[in-house]
Amino acid sequence: MESETDPLIQNGSQRNYAHDDDEHEAYKTRSRALIVRATVWSVLILLFVAGLVLVFAFSDFLSHFPWSGGLPKDPELAARRIMRSAPVIDGHIDLPYVVRLGYRNNVSAVDLEAPMPLQVDIPRLRKGMVGGFFWSVFVECPKDSKDDDDFLTSSWRVRDTLEQIDSAKLLIQKYPDTFQFATGTEDIRSSIRDGKIASLMGVEGGHQLGNSIAVLRQYHALGVRYVTLTHSCHNAFADSCGMMDGIEPLHWGLSALGRKLIDEMNRLGVLVDLSHTSDDTAAQALTYSKAPVIWSHSSARAVHNVPRNVPDYVLRLIGTGKGQRDGVVMVNFAPGFVAPEGKATVKAVANHVEHIANVAGKKRVGIGSDYDGIGTEVPKGLEDVSKYPALIAELYSRGWNKYELAGLTGGNLLRVFAGAEQVSRELQESGAAPVYDLYDQRKDIPPWRQEL
Ligand SMILES: *[C@@H]1O[C@H](CO)[C@@H](O)[C@H](O)[C@H]1NC(C)=O
Ligand SMILES: [Zn+2]
Repeated sequence: MESETDPLIQNGSQRNYAHDDDEHEAYKTRSRALIVRATVWSVLILLFVAGLVLVFAFSDFLSHFPWSGGLPKDPELAARRIMRSAPVIDGHIDLPYVVRLGYRNNVSAVDLEAPMPLQVDIPRLRKGMVGGFFWSVFVECPKDSKDDDDFLTSSWRVRDTLEQIDSAKLLIQKYPDTFQFATGTEDIRSSIRDGKIASLMGVEGGHQLGNSIAVLRQYHALGVRYVTLTHSCHNAFADSCGMMDGIEPLHWGLSALGRKLIDEMNRLGVLVDLSHTSDDTAAQALTYSKAPVIWSHSSARAVHNVPRNVPDYVLRLIGTGKGQRDGVVMVNFAPGFVAPEGKATVKAVANHVEHIANVAGKKRVGIGSDYDGIGTEVPKGLEDVSKYPALIAELYSRGWNKYELAGLTGGNLLRVFAGAEQVSRELQESGAAPVYDLYDQRKDIPPWRQEL
């Protein structure tokens, strides 16, 4: 070995010998190259093994650095890591209704920085890593679901809906460091970038339109971005599924006016929300709407059999294939819709998420808790808005990856919403006219134009 590297001998052999020593020289060069290569490989393998040890032994530690790209093994830590860039956008929270019944709409008496009576306040929203939600501006249905009179005399419901919109807006304005009023996907993204909670509004039932498409246009102008076609009563547009026992159909799905309503929602970019509707309404609306649709707060009927949950045959209509329309089913946490009495837990809610994902795809499921609209009964482990990470952790431990979970928390809703915004732009660019149809039972406006 020593002689090989001795320049004197090398020089001597080069000088004194010819052919034989050329071979010897080539052999020595090859050996040197082999030794260098072996050394380099040993070092590389050592580094690689050391790296693997680091990654596996300290992955929880390493994952504190965003550049490491790994996720903690601990599901709760992993959930929080994912939610830092993909916070929850909840499809349905009833805070304005709490302000109505609990505070007589006196927004100055509502202290969202202190513990609130039900499931929603600012400290718990922050703890739960919420990046946005639809504030439901809801007023009750008439008692009788087929009250024809009511289809004509619902003006007080428009008044009350305006009061709910007012409460929501005033409460959003009261906490400008927390809430950011939002009416579209760009607003949602910029609110989240600024560390605010994007605050959108949804109207929970066609009865709140006074069965008038003109009222839809004005709600849209006020910032409303979804309308649930029905609450638990039928209206002039569509059939409801009722509540726990179901109800007799009236239109067998959408009425002709209901299709006109969807035309106008598509043109304006107001999301068609199919929670609370009958199965016929949902299937017909999904097929009829040009824009993707949502279920703002509904779970899976195959997991828990109540009319408010979405049946598999409707889930199979959601998608981008032939005869399908894109959409997102945002899972409801109300114990009565999740599981038999006393069985609603975070795992049971995760079962709904997974069932919808299995039938319609992981890109078609979201979160619509219904918090503040479900009274004081809550699932175990999902007691309020601070607990969303527990659901994400549960699904992470069931093998959902970070991209799938980011879709569930809000990405899927953003895709669907952006799709509806795109349809609206296209319709308006192509010159689609506002819809002027009136409910045909109206007597306040004569059915034909008057000679003036
Ligand atoms: C609203 O609440 C505030 C704070 O509690 C109270 O001072 C005020 O009198 C209330 N206003 C009405 C009209 O009830
Ligand atoms: Zn509801």
